[in-house]
Amino acid sequence: MSSIRASVHGQWSSRWIFILAATGSAVGLGNIWRFPYLTGENGGGAFVLVYLFCVVMMGIPIMMAEILLGRRGRKSPVNTMHTLAAEEGLNSNWYLLGWLGVVAGFIILSYYSVIAGWTIAFIFKTGMGDFIGSNADQTTAIFSELISNPVILLFWHTIFMFLTIYVVSRGVKSGLEQAVKFLMPALFILLLIMVAYAMSTEKFFDGLSYLFIPDFDSLVDKNLFSDLFLPALGQAFFSLSIGMGAIMIYGSYLSKESSITFNCFVIALADTSVAILAGVAIFPIVFTYGLEPSGGPGLIFISLPIAFGQMPFGTFFGSLFFILLMFAAWTSSISLLEPAVSWLVENRNMTRIKAAYMAGFIAWFLGLLTVLSFNHWAFEFTFAGTIKENGLFDIFDILTSNIMLPLGGVLIVIFTSWLMSRSSTIDELGVGDNNIYKIWYFIARYIAPLGVIIIFLNTMGFFKLFSLNN
Ligand code: PHE
Repeated sequence: MSSIRASVHGQWSSRWIFILAATGSAVGLGNIWRFPYLTGENGGGAFVLVYLFCVVMMGIPIMMAEILLGRRGRKSPVNTMHTLAAEEGLNSNWYLLGWLGVVAGFIILSYYSVIAGWTIAFIFKTGMGDFIGSNADQTTAIFSELISNPVILLFWHTIFMFLTIYVVSRGVKSGLEQAVKFLMPALFILLLIMVAYAMSTEKFFDGLSYLFIPDFDSLVDKNLFSDLFLPALGQAFFSLSIGMGAIMIYGSYLSKESSITFNCFVIALADTSVAILAGVAIFPIVFTYGLEPSGGPGLIFISLPIAFGQMPFGTFFGSLFFILLMFAAWTSSISLLEPAVSWLVENRNMTRIKAAYMAGFIAWFLGLLTVLSFNHWAFEFTFAGTIKENGLFDIFDILTSNIMLPLGGVLIVIFTSWLMSRSSTIDELGVGDNNIYKIWYFIARYIAPLGVIIIFLNTMGFFKLFSLNN
Protein backbone atom coordinates (compact mmCIF):
# COMPACT_ATOMS: atom_id res chain seq x y z
CA MET A 1 0.00 0.00 0.00
CA SER A 2 2.55 2.53 1.08
CA SER A 3 4.83 1.51 -1.75
CA ILE A 4 2.51 3.05 -4.31
CA ARG A 5 1.80 6.18 -2.31
CA ALA A 6 3.17 9.24 -4.08
CA SER A 7 4.05 12.64 -2.67
CA VAL A 8 1.83 15.52 -3.73
CA HIS A 9 4.97 17.61 -3.98
CA GLY A 10 6.50 15.38 -6.67
CA GLN A 11 9.50 13.05 -6.80
CA TRP A 12 13.23 13.35 -7.46
CA SER A 13 13.97 12.67 -11.11
CA SER A 14 16.66 10.13 -10.23
CA ARG A 15 18.33 8.57 -7.19
CA TRP A 16 21.39 10.75 -7.72
CA ILE A 17 19.30 13.86 -7.40
CA PHE A 18 18.26 12.70 -3.96
CA ILE A 19 21.88 12.14 -2.96
CA LEU A 20 22.79 15.54 -4.34
CA ALA A 21 19.92 17.30 -2.63
CA ALA A 22 20.50 15.61 0.70
CA THR A 23 24.22 16.32 0.45
CA GLY A 24 23.32 19.90 -0.39
CA SER A 25 21.28 20.02 2.78
CA ALA A 26 24.00 18.43 4.88
CA VAL A 27 27.00 20.36 3.57
CA GLY A 28 26.78 23.98 4.56
CA LEU A 29 27.84 26.41 7.23
CA GLY A 30 27.76 23.50 9.66
CA ASN A 31 30.84 21.99 8.05
CA ILE A 32 32.88 25.04 7.21
CA TRP A 33 31.86 27.56 9.85
CA ARG A 34 30.48 25.62 12.81
CA PHE A 35 32.66 22.51 12.85
CA PRO A 36 36.01 24.37 13.00
CA TYR A 37 34.89 26.84 15.64
CA LEU A 38 33.37 24.18 17.88
CA THR A 39 36.50 22.07 17.47
CA GLY A 40 38.51 25.09 18.58
CA GLU A 41 36.24 25.81 21.53
CA ASN A 42 36.35 22.21 22.67
CA GLY A 43 40.06 21.61 22.49
CA GLY A 44 40.69 19.90 19.14
CA GLY A 45 41.43 16.21 18.57
CA ALA A 46 39.29 14.71 21.33
CA PHE A 47 36.29 16.62 20.05
CA VAL A 48 36.91 15.45 16.48
CA LEU A 49 37.22 11.84 17.62
CA VAL A 50 33.99 11.94 19.61
CA TYR A 51 32.31 13.74 16.71
CA LEU A 52 33.25 10.93 14.30
CA PHE A 53 32.00 8.38 16.80
CA CYS A 54 28.64 10.20 17.03
CA VAL A 55 28.32 10.36 13.24
CA VAL A 56 28.85 6.63 12.83
CA MET A 57 27.02 5.25 15.86
CA MET A 58 24.12 7.69 16.04
CA GLY A 59 24.09 9.94 12.99
CA ILE A 60 24.00 7.37 10.20
CA PRO A 61 21.46 4.96 11.77
CA ILE A 62 19.18 7.87 12.69
CA MET A 63 19.50 9.31 9.21
CA MET A 64 18.44 5.95 7.78
CA ALA A 65 15.44 5.87 10.11
CA GLU A 66 14.46 9.42 9.21
CA ILE A 67 14.63 8.84 5.44
CA LEU A 68 12.73 5.59 5.86
CA LEU A 69 9.89 7.40 7.63
CA GLY A 70 9.83 10.12 5.00
CA ARG A 71 9.67 7.71 2.10
CA ARG A 72 6.95 5.64 3.72
CA GLY A 73 4.83 8.59 4.76
CA ARG A 74 5.37 10.71 1.63
CA LYS A 75 4.12 13.91 3.28
CA SER A 76 5.36 16.81 5.35
CA PRO A 77 6.99 15.56 8.59
CA VAL A 78 3.91 16.47 10.66
CA ASN A 79 1.57 14.53 8.40
CA THR A 80 4.03 11.72 7.80
CA MET A 81 4.19 11.05 11.54
CA HIS A 82 0.42 11.27 11.73
CA THR A 83 -0.11 8.82 8.87
CA LEU A 84 2.51 6.33 9.98
CA ALA A 85 1.32 6.35 13.59
CA ALA A 86 -2.19 5.57 12.36
CA GLU A 87 -0.97 2.87 9.97
CA GLU A 88 1.03 1.19 12.70
CA GLY A 89 -1.79 1.50 15.24
CA LEU A 90 0.14 3.90 17.48
CA ASN A 91 -0.79 6.95 19.51
CA SER A 92 -1.79 9.78 17.22
CA ASN A 93 0.26 12.33 19.19
CA TRP A 94 3.35 11.26 17.27
CA TYR A 95 2.57 14.06 14.87
CA LEU A 96 3.98 16.37 17.57
CA LEU A 97 7.40 15.03 16.64
CA GLY A 98 6.87 16.68 13.27
CA TRP A 99 6.15 19.96 15.02
CA LEU A 100 9.26 19.72 17.12
CA GLY A 101 11.15 19.63 13.83
CA VAL A 102 9.25 22.52 12.29
CA VAL A 103 10.01 24.72 15.30
CA ALA A 104 13.68 23.67 15.36
CA GLY A 105 13.86 24.47 11.64
CA PHE A 106 12.54 28.00 12.19
CA ILE A 107 14.99 28.70 14.97
CA ILE A 108 18.00 27.31 13.10
CA LEU A 109 17.06 29.10 9.89
CA SER A 110 16.67 32.38 11.78
CA TYR A 111 20.32 32.48 12.76
CA TYR A 112 21.65 30.46 9.84
CA SER A 113 20.49 33.19 7.51
CA VAL A 114 22.34 35.87 9.49
CA ILE A 115 25.61 33.92 9.33
CA ALA A 116 25.05 33.19 5.64
CA GLY A 117 24.68 36.95 5.31
CA TRP A 118 28.23 37.31 6.63
CA THR A 119 29.45 35.10 3.81
CA ILE A 120 27.78 37.39 1.26
CA ALA A 121 29.37 40.43 2.88
CA PHE A 122 32.72 38.64 2.67
CA ILE A 123 32.32 37.93 -1.05
CA PHE A 124 32.50 41.68 -1.57
CA LYS A 125 35.17 42.35 1.01
CA THR A 126 37.56 39.77 -0.44
CA GLY A 127 36.60 40.68 -4.00
CA MET A 128 37.50 44.31 -3.39
CA GLY A 129 40.89 43.33 -2.06
CA ASP A 130 40.21 44.43 1.53
CA PHE A 131 42.40 41.65 2.87
CA ILE A 132 45.47 42.01 0.67
CA GLY A 133 48.50 41.77 2.91
CA SER A 134 46.47 41.85 6.13
CA ASN A 135 47.61 40.38 9.38
CA ALA A 136 45.46 38.82 12.08
CA ASP A 137 44.73 42.16 13.78
CA GLN A 138 43.47 43.66 10.57
CA THR A 139 41.17 40.77 9.64
CA THR A 140 39.88 40.72 13.22
CA ALA A 141 39.11 44.42 12.98
CA ILE A 142 37.29 44.02 9.65
CA PHE A 143 35.18 41.21 11.06
CA SER A 144 34.37 43.06 14.28
CA GLU A 145 33.35 46.10 12.32
CA LEU A 146 30.93 44.02 10.26
CA ILE A 147 29.20 42.33 13.18
CA SER A 148 29.00 45.50 15.21
CA ASN A 149 26.74 47.05 12.58
CA PRO A 150 23.19 45.69 12.90
CA VAL A 151 21.94 47.54 9.83
CA ILE A 152 24.43 45.82 7.54
CA LEU A 153 23.78 42.44 9.17
CA LEU A 154 20.08 42.96 8.70
CA PHE A 155 20.60 43.88 5.07
CA TRP A 156 22.49 40.69 4.16
CA HIS A 157 20.22 38.56 6.35
CA THR A 158 17.24 39.89 4.40
CA ILE A 159 18.89 39.17 1.04
CA PHE A 160 19.79 35.63 2.05
CA MET A 161 16.34 34.89 3.46
CA PHE A 162 14.85 36.15 0.26
CA LEU A 163 17.02 33.78 -1.77
CA THR A 164 15.87 30.91 0.45
CA ILE A 165 12.21 31.83 0.13
CA TYR A 166 12.56 32.20 -3.62
CA VAL A 167 13.84 28.66 -4.17
CA VAL A 168 11.36 27.11 -1.75
CA SER A 169 8.48 29.00 -3.36
CA ARG A 170 9.36 27.46 -6.73
CA GLY A 171 9.67 23.94 -5.30
CA VAL A 172 13.01 22.75 -4.00
CA LYS A 173 13.74 20.56 -6.96
CA SER A 174 14.10 23.14 -9.69
CA GLY A 175 17.46 24.80 -9.49
CA LEU A 176 18.82 22.57 -6.79
CA GLU A 177 20.19 20.02 -9.23
CA GLN A 178 22.50 22.45 -11.03
CA ALA A 179 23.54 24.13 -7.84
CA VAL A 180 24.61 20.93 -6.21
CA LYS A 181 26.06 19.21 -9.27
CA PHE A 182 28.58 21.92 -10.08
CA LEU A 183 28.96 24.12 -7.05
CA MET A 184 29.54 21.41 -4.45
CA PRO A 185 32.45 19.82 -6.34
CA ALA A 186 33.81 23.31 -6.94
CA LEU A 187 33.67 24.04 -3.21
CA PHE A 188 35.45 20.78 -2.55
CA ILE A 189 38.24 21.66 -5.00
CA LEU A 190 38.61 25.10 -3.50
CA LEU A 191 38.94 23.56 -0.07
CA LEU A 192 41.75 21.41 -1.47
CA ILE A 193 43.45 24.57 -2.71
CA MET A 194 43.11 26.02 0.79
CA VAL A 195 44.61 22.86 2.23
CA ALA A 196 47.52 23.26 -0.19
CA TYR A 197 48.01 26.79 1.08
CA ALA A 198 47.80 25.56 4.67
CA MET A 199 50.58 23.07 3.86
CA SER A 200 52.83 25.95 2.96
CA THR A 201 52.37 27.65 6.32
CA GLU A 202 54.86 27.27 9.12
CA LYS A 203 52.52 25.55 11.54
CA PHE A 204 50.87 23.03 9.22
CA PHE A 205 51.78 20.12 11.44
CA ASP A 206 50.69 21.91 14.60
CA GLY A 207 47.31 22.37 12.94
CA LEU A 208 47.14 18.72 11.96
CA SER A 209 48.09 17.41 15.36
CA TYR A 210 45.65 19.78 17.04
CA LEU A 211 42.90 18.33 14.86
CA PHE A 212 43.80 14.66 14.94
CA ILE A 213 45.72 13.95 18.13
CA PRO A 214 43.49 14.11 21.19
CA ASP A 215 45.09 15.98 24.03
CA PHE A 216 43.79 13.89 26.92
CA ASP A 217 45.49 16.07 29.52
CA SER A 218 43.23 18.95 28.62
CA LEU A 219 40.25 16.78 29.52
CA VAL A 220 41.23 16.15 33.10
CA ASP A 221 39.01 18.67 34.76
CA LYS A 222 36.19 18.47 32.27
CA ASN A 223 32.90 16.65 32.50
CA LEU A 224 33.26 14.39 29.48
CA PHE A 225 29.55 14.12 28.84
CA SER A 226 28.49 17.71 29.05
CA ASP A 227 31.69 19.34 27.84
CA LEU A 228 32.65 16.98 25.07
CA PHE A 229 29.98 14.48 24.07
CA LEU A 230 27.04 16.87 24.10
CA PRO A 231 28.53 19.48 21.74
CA ALA A 232 29.95 16.73 19.49
CA LEU A 233 26.57 15.00 19.36
CA GLY A 234 24.87 18.30 18.57
CA GLN A 235 27.36 18.98 15.81
CA ALA A 236 26.77 15.53 14.29
CA PHE A 237 23.02 16.17 14.15
CA PHE A 238 23.40 19.69 12.89
CA SER A 239 25.89 18.78 10.22
CA LEU A 240 23.95 15.77 8.92
CA SER A 241 20.68 17.77 8.93
CA ILE A 242 18.96 15.12 11.03
CA GLY A 243 16.42 15.21 13.84
CA MET A 244 14.16 17.95 12.49
CA GLY A 245 12.46 16.57 9.41
CA ALA A 246 14.65 18.14 6.69
CA ILE A 247 16.01 14.82 5.54
CA MET A 248 12.61 13.24 6.20
CA ILE A 249 10.92 15.53 3.71
CA TYR A 250 13.69 14.90 1.17
CA GLY A 251 13.16 11.19 1.76
CA SER A 252 9.49 11.65 0.97
CA TYR A 253 10.44 12.52 -2.61
CA LEU A 254 12.65 9.45 -2.95
CA SER A 255 11.67 6.60 -5.20
CA LYS A 256 11.07 3.19 -3.75
CA GLU A 257 13.89 1.52 -5.69
CA SER A 258 16.70 3.55 -4.21
CA SER A 259 18.78 2.01 -1.39
CA ILE A 260 18.48 4.14 1.73
CA THR A 261 21.57 2.55 3.29
CA PHE A 262 23.81 3.30 0.33
CA ASN A 263 22.49 6.84 0.08
CA CYS A 264 23.13 7.54 3.74
CA PHE A 265 26.72 6.37 3.57
CA VAL A 266 27.45 8.55 0.57
CA ILE A 267 25.86 11.59 2.21
CA ALA A 268 27.61 11.10 5.55
CA LEU A 269 30.96 10.52 3.87
CA ALA A 270 30.67 13.66 1.76
CA ASP A 271 29.55 15.69 4.76
CA THR A 272 32.33 14.48 7.03
CA SER A 273 35.06 14.92 4.43
CA VAL A 274 34.10 18.53 3.87
CA ALA A 275 34.21 19.25 7.60
CA ILE A 276 37.60 17.60 8.05
CA LEU A 277 39.04 19.39 5.02
CA ALA A 278 37.79 22.70 6.40
CA GLY A 279 39.55 21.91 9.68
CA VAL A 280 42.80 21.02 7.89
CA ALA A 281 42.62 24.26 5.91
CA ILE A 282 41.89 26.47 8.90
CA PHE A 283 43.90 25.38 11.93
CA PRO A 284 47.38 25.74 10.41
CA ILE A 285 46.46 29.34 9.56
CA VAL A 286 45.09 29.88 13.06
CA PHE A 287 48.36 28.73 14.63
CA THR A 288 50.70 30.32 12.11
CA TYR A 289 49.15 33.75 12.62
CA GLY A 290 48.78 33.49 16.37
CA LEU A 291 44.97 33.39 16.47
CA GLU A 292 43.01 31.75 19.29
CA PRO A 293 41.44 28.44 18.18
CA SER A 294 38.69 29.13 20.69
CA GLY A 295 37.82 32.41 19.00
CA GLY A 296 34.16 31.45 18.47
CA PRO A 297 31.83 32.03 15.52
CA GLY A 298 34.19 34.48 13.81
CA LEU A 299 36.97 31.89 13.43
CA ILE A 300 36.78 31.26 9.68
CA PHE A 301 35.99 34.89 8.89
CA ILE A 302 39.16 35.97 10.66
CA SER A 303 41.57 33.18 9.71
CA LEU A 304 40.81 32.43 6.05
CA PRO A 305 41.02 36.06 4.86
CA ILE A 306 44.65 36.19 6.06
CA ALA A 307 45.36 33.33 3.68
CA PHE A 308 43.46 35.01 0.85
CA GLY A 309 45.46 38.14 1.47
CA GLN A 310 48.74 36.25 1.11
CA MET A 311 48.30 33.56 -1.50
CA PRO A 312 48.66 34.09 -5.25
CA PHE A 313 45.31 35.01 -6.86
CA GLY A 314 43.95 35.32 -3.31
CA THR A 315 41.36 37.92 -4.26
CA PHE A 316 39.95 35.61 -6.89
CA PHE A 317 40.07 32.45 -4.79
CA GLY A 318 38.77 34.29 -1.76
CA SER A 319 35.68 35.70 -3.37
CA LEU A 320 35.04 32.41 -5.16
CA PHE A 321 35.32 30.61 -1.82
CA PHE A 322 32.72 32.82 -0.17
CA ILE A 323 30.44 32.57 -3.21
CA LEU A 324 30.55 28.79 -3.02
CA LEU A 325 30.07 28.85 0.73
CA MET A 326 27.00 31.00 0.21
CA PHE A 327 25.62 28.45 -2.24
CA ALA A 328 26.35 25.64 0.18
CA ALA A 329 24.44 27.56 2.86
CA TRP A 330 21.62 28.19 0.41
CA THR A 331 21.10 24.52 -0.42
CA SER A 332 20.94 23.88 3.35
CA SER A 333 18.64 26.72 4.27
CA ILE A 334 15.96 25.64 1.82
CA SER A 335 15.77 22.30 3.59
CA LEU A 336 15.26 24.09 6.90
CA LEU A 337 12.19 25.87 5.55
CA GLU A 338 10.73 22.98 3.55
CA PRO A 339 9.09 21.03 6.43
CA ALA A 340 7.02 24.06 7.46
CA VAL A 341 6.14 25.00 3.90
CA SER A 342 5.07 21.50 2.89
CA TRP A 343 2.78 21.43 5.92
CA LEU A 344 1.21 24.78 5.04
CA VAL A 345 0.59 23.55 1.50
CA GLU A 346 -0.95 20.29 2.68
CA ASN A 347 -3.01 21.47 5.61
CA ARG A 348 -3.77 25.09 4.95
CA ASN A 349 -4.33 24.71 1.26
CA MET A 350 -1.91 27.53 0.56
CA THR A 351 -0.04 27.97 -2.66
CA ARG A 352 3.63 27.16 -2.37
CA ILE A 353 4.53 30.77 -2.99
CA LYS A 354 2.36 32.12 -0.22
CA ALA A 355 3.47 29.42 2.20
CA ALA A 356 7.16 30.07 1.48
CA TYR A 357 6.81 33.81 2.03
CA MET A 358 4.83 33.37 5.20
CA ALA A 359 7.13 30.82 6.81
CA GLY A 360 10.20 32.68 5.58
CA PHE A 361 8.95 35.90 7.10
CA ILE A 362 8.62 34.28 10.53
CA ALA A 363 12.19 32.96 10.36
CA TRP A 364 13.42 36.33 9.09
CA PHE A 365 11.73 38.12 11.96
CA LEU A 366 13.19 35.75 14.52
CA GLY A 367 16.57 36.40 12.90
CA LEU A 368 16.48 39.98 14.16
CA LEU A 369 17.34 38.60 17.59
CA THR A 370 20.51 37.06 16.18
CA VAL A 371 21.39 40.26 14.34
CA LEU A 372 21.31 42.06 17.68
CA SER A 373 23.17 39.31 19.53
CA PHE A 374 26.44 40.42 17.98
CA ASN A 375 26.15 44.05 18.98
CA HIS A 376 23.52 45.90 21.04
CA TRP A 377 22.15 42.86 22.84
CA ALA A 378 25.36 40.87 23.17
CA PHE A 379 25.86 39.22 26.54
CA GLU A 380 28.23 36.63 27.81
CA PHE A 381 27.55 33.38 29.60
CA THR A 382 29.32 30.11 30.19
CA PHE A 383 27.89 26.92 28.77
CA ALA A 384 29.41 23.54 29.54
CA GLY A 385 32.75 25.06 30.37
CA THR A 386 32.93 27.30 27.30
CA ILE A 387 32.48 31.06 27.36
CA LYS A 388 29.81 32.14 24.89
CA GLU A 389 29.73 35.81 24.02
CA ASN A 390 26.74 36.21 21.80
CA GLY A 391 23.72 35.84 24.04
CA LEU A 392 20.56 34.87 22.23
CA PHE A 393 22.33 33.58 19.15
CA ASP A 394 24.28 31.11 21.28
CA ILE A 395 21.17 30.13 23.20
CA PHE A 396 19.27 29.41 19.97
CA ASP A 397 22.19 27.42 18.68
CA ILE A 398 22.60 25.37 21.86
CA LEU A 399 18.87 24.82 22.26
CA THR A 400 18.41 23.51 18.73
CA SER A 401 21.54 21.50 18.00
CA ASN A 402 22.24 20.15 21.47
CA ILE A 403 18.68 19.53 22.61
CA MET A 404 15.96 19.68 19.96
CA LEU A 405 17.77 17.80 17.18
CA PRO A 406 19.06 14.95 19.40
CA LEU A 407 15.64 14.69 21.05
CA GLY A 408 13.94 14.57 17.65
CA GLY A 409 16.49 12.01 16.46
CA VAL A 410 16.03 9.74 19.43
CA LEU A 411 12.25 9.80 19.05
CA ILE A 412 12.60 9.06 15.33
CA VAL A 413 14.81 6.07 15.93
CA ILE A 414 12.65 4.75 18.77
CA PHE A 415 9.54 5.09 16.66
CA THR A 416 11.17 3.28 13.76
CA SER A 417 12.94 0.45 15.51
CA TRP A 418 10.76 -0.21 18.58
CA LEU A 419 7.26 0.80 17.56
CA MET A 420 6.89 0.27 13.84
CA SER A 421 6.37 -3.29 12.74
CA ARG A 422 9.47 -5.07 11.54
CA SER A 423 7.83 -5.87 8.27
CA SER A 424 7.42 -2.16 7.54
CA THR A 425 11.05 -1.34 8.18
CA ILE A 426 12.25 -4.41 6.30
CA ASP A 427 10.07 -3.33 3.44
CA GLU A 428 11.95 0.00 3.30
CA LEU A 429 15.49 -1.04 4.22
CA GLY A 430 15.84 -4.74 4.07
CA VAL A 431 15.32 -5.62 0.47
CA GLY A 432 18.32 -7.61 -0.61
CA ASP A 433 20.45 -6.42 2.31
CA ASN A 434 19.60 -8.79 5.06
CA ASN A 435 22.79 -8.39 7.03
CA ILE A 436 22.90 -4.66 6.75
CA TYR A 437 19.34 -4.57 7.95
CA LYS A 438 20.24 -6.62 11.02
CA ILE A 439 23.15 -4.36 11.90
CA TRP A 440 20.99 -1.29 11.46
CA TYR A 441 18.21 -2.83 13.53
CA PHE A 442 20.53 -3.56 16.42
CA ILE A 443 22.20 -0.15 16.42
CA ALA A 444 18.89 1.64 15.92
CA ARG A 445 17.23 -0.20 18.78
CA TYR A 446 19.99 -0.12 21.34
CA ILE A 447 23.12 1.85 20.60
CA ALA A 448 21.78 5.03 19.02
CA PRO A 449 18.96 5.78 21.49
CA LEU A 450 21.00 4.71 24.51
CA GLY A 451 23.94 6.78 23.35
CA VAL A 452 21.84 9.92 23.13
CA ILE A 453 19.94 9.17 26.34
CA ILE A 454 23.12 8.51 28.31
CA ILE A 455 24.61 11.78 27.10
CA PHE A 456 21.39 13.59 27.99
CA LEU A 457 21.06 12.05 31.44
CA ASN A 458 24.64 12.81 32.29
CA THR A 459 24.02 16.39 31.34
CA MET A 460 20.80 16.53 33.33
CA GLY A 461 21.98 19.27 35.58
CA PHE A 462 21.46 21.12 32.33
CA PHE A 463 20.64 24.49 33.77
CA LYS A 464 23.70 24.24 35.92
CA LEU A 465 25.71 24.22 32.73
CA PHE A 466 24.76 27.82 32.18
CA SER A 467 26.19 30.58 34.25
CA LEU A 468 25.97 34.27 33.61
CA ASN A 469 29.27 36.08 33.29
CA ASN A 470 29.56 39.68 34.25
N1 PHE B 1 23.41 20.56 7.86
C1 PHE B 1 23.38 21.96 7.59
C2 PHE B 1 24.80 22.48 7.68
O1 PHE B 1 25.67 21.76 8.10
C3 PHE B 1 22.46 22.71 8.52
C4 PHE B 1 21.13 22.07 8.70
C5 PHE B 1 20.74 21.59 9.94
C6 PHE B 1 20.26 21.91 7.60
C7 PHE B 1 19.51 20.96 10.11
C8 PHE B 1 19.04 21.30 7.78
C9 PHE B 1 18.68 20.81 9.02
O2 PHE B 1 25.07 23.59 7.35
